[in-house]
Amino acid sequence: MNILVIGSGGREHALAWQCAKDDSVKNVYVAPGNAGTALEPKCQNVILQDTNGEHSAVIEFCQNNAIDMVIVGPEAPLVTGIIDACRAAGIKAWGPTAYCAQLEGSKTFAKEFMAEHNIPTSAYQGFTDATSAKAYIDEQGAPIVIKADGLAAGKGVIVAETIEQAHAAIDDMLADNKFGDAGSRVVIEQFLEGEEASFICMVDGNNILPMATSQDHKRAYEGDTGPNTGGMGAYSPAPVVTQDVHDKVMAQVIQPVVNAMNAAGHPYTGFLYAGLMIDKAGDPYVIEFNCRFGDPETQPILMRLQSSMVELVAKGLAGELPSQADWDARPALGIVMASKGYPETSSKGDVITGLPELDPHDTSAVKVFHAGTAFTHDSFDADTSTSHPKEVVTDGGRVLCVTALADSILGAQQAALAVTAAISFDGAQYRRDIGHHAIARKDS
Ligand code: AMP
Ligand code: GLY
Repeated sequence: MNILVIGSGGREHALAWQCAKDDSVKNVYVAPGNAGTALEPKCQNVILQDTNGEHSAVIEFCQNNAIDMVIVGPEAPLVTGIIDACRAAGIKAWGPTAYCAQLEGSKTFAKEFMAEHNIPTSAYQGFTDATSAKAYIDEQGAPIVIKADGLAAGKGVIVAETIEQAHAAIDDMLADNKFGDAGSRVVIEQFLEGEEASFICMVDGNNILPMATSQDHKRAYEGDTGPNTGGMGAYSPAPVVTQDVHDKVMAQVIQPVVNAMNAAGHPYTGFLYAGLMIDKAGDPYVIEFNCRFGDPETQPILMRLQSSMVELVAKGLAGELPSQADWDARPALGIVMASKGYPETSSKGDVITGLPELDPHDTSAVKVFHAGTAFTHDSFDADTSTSHPKEVVTDGGRVLCVTALADSILGAQQAALAVTAAISFDGAQYRRDIGHHAIARKDS
């Protein structure tokens, strides 16, 4: 079997690694991938340049390379209809259609959808005009949350502690156009209190397979402070999602999405991610929907997956998803190492040292998933007649996700930190407190 994974992050490295483990898989192509996917057994990177916005490079590649299954990692190609395009060409591709991907692609669509289908979320209002947005903020008071309407890589959300900060966010988004078109419309919503969790499922149109629960850390700095990022680390399971909370999320959030999309004539297929706030009473509120697997949640979740990812996706594509998968009972925790300047800027070309040797027979419980990494080219020094082998360098904001399995979340944190400490590159930054909510609980 040949598989094509679309994307270049840690999530895609973890997906490719899981797919490659399946004996029935011959080749896993990753487009465009990173240095980690290039090094993974059975995996190779390919460049597929979509020049006309119609995903034709992907379709052509699948037709020429006998691809049995495409797994799409990031939201951008899903929102622009890669699944619709593949299906029209008779290619099996796992993900939601462009219609369903609006749940992530437009905060306004998501909010209206939740209101219509009674899915619990915070009160909100949408604005395109700065004066009325500010008047609404003055009326509501702080803290209050300002979100760019479109895709902004997890960074278009400002949790304003004061009215002044909220006004400044409006000026950035609506007046100064800081997020481009994504921010030409904003959603202003009520601040929710509680503990966050990521609830990710596979959906085949009708059947729902919940993945193991997880929690990520979106803020850049320790103690959950600093700016929002794509995610600085994650762990699974999330103790805040008790069986009771799990049941509520399935009944109040996931099942209504599946039912409503079916009723609209657009069955939901692919990964469905609900970012939740769980309040003190154990009631879930949706902060956001994503139409894909989370990054970095995928990395610890897939460390724990014992079923075959390929088999699950094949069943999903056939509309035969089981209701449960097999998971390692041990928790897993991943620490993101980011490059200098992240999240405002990122750095490229800094040499990474201390990466553990990749051994395909290694069954150890720590895995370094790559995200923003690349190789330098082989170079030959004519004066000394020596060649310098390729080196792994940084190539983006989030660089690596060091992920460990252990008997406790604290144990997994310690194991991941030990490997993280041995890896270095100029300006490397990471949080030492990933998992602190769970570690602070007595029962984990
Ligand atoms: P989002 O991109 O919508 O997931 O928002 C990014 C982060 O901002 C979330 O993970 C939360 O930590 C925070 N956030 C977003 N919306 C709210 C809200 N209504 N109340 C409290 N925190 C929020
Ligand atoms: N880790 C959050 C996300 O994938 O959006």
